[in-house]
Amino acid sequence: MLKRRLSIRRSPCPHFCTSIPAPCPVPSAANSAEFTKTWKTAHPDGTVITRDVSANPSAPLDVTWIYANFTPEAARTPEQKALLASSDQLVAELKQADEYVIGVAMHNFSIPSTLKLWIDQIARAGATFAYGANGPEGLLKGKKATILIASGGVYEIGIPMGGLNFVEPYLKAVLGFLGVTDIQFVTAGGAAQLMKPDADRAAFLAPTIERVRTVAA
Ligand SMILES: Cc1cc2nc3c(=O)[nH]c(=O)nc-3n(C[C@H](O)[C@H](O)[C@H](O)COP(=O)(O)O)c2cc1C
Repeated sequence: MLKRRLSIRRSPCPHFCTSIPAPCPVPSAANSAEFTKTWKTAHPDGTVITRDVSANPSAPLDVTWIYANFTPEAARTPEQKALLASSDQLVAELKQADEYVIGVAMHNFSIPSTLKLWIDQIARAGATFAYGANGPEGLLKGKKATILIASGGVYEIGIPMGGLNFVEPYLKAVLGFLGVTDIQFVTAGGAAQLMKPDADRAAFLAPTIERVRTVAA
């Protein structure tokens, strides 16, 4: 069976590159690119769909969108359908794909706001989860997700800073709610050292790239 993978990532070069000598591509983009390369080798007939949520951020939800979403599909006006069209496409991508890979930078101990905007568009009752007799049920069953995190500091579970890592638990919770429970995380912690002029970028990335190759194969 042909495999499809949905790659959710951000632009390879952040806007602040022009004012701060940040290394390009940034770690989350470098790891996403490595994952794709390895995955394509392992699945030569596979299809990769790439969704850059940084270059093309979704619109924030507003009351008109929420009302359109709660209106039964058959009763939606053409305007409501148009309003939900982008979300419909994002949900369709998730349903088509067998595997997801999400490249994530830690921003203020959590996920970037652009990734949250994408999540708001795809977490939809009746589309990616449903309320049944036994409570909510995720509809994205049988999918596998790999989350590639980059953070300036180190936030391993068990160390004092670990309690400030809301990236991993949040993504685990929200993806799990949608039915995606087969999740693996690869984290490049301590990326702040790359801001030093003499930083050895290749040495910093090497262990994470190695791990990415292993999980993507
Ligand atoms: C707006 C912003 C907020 C950030 N917040 C945190 C943070 O809370 N904790 C942390 O360790 N690093 C933080 N960082 C650093 C990034 O996580 C780090 O640069 C990481 O490498 C980003 O991934 P990227 O290089 O792939 O973009 C922040 C960076 C930016 C630009």
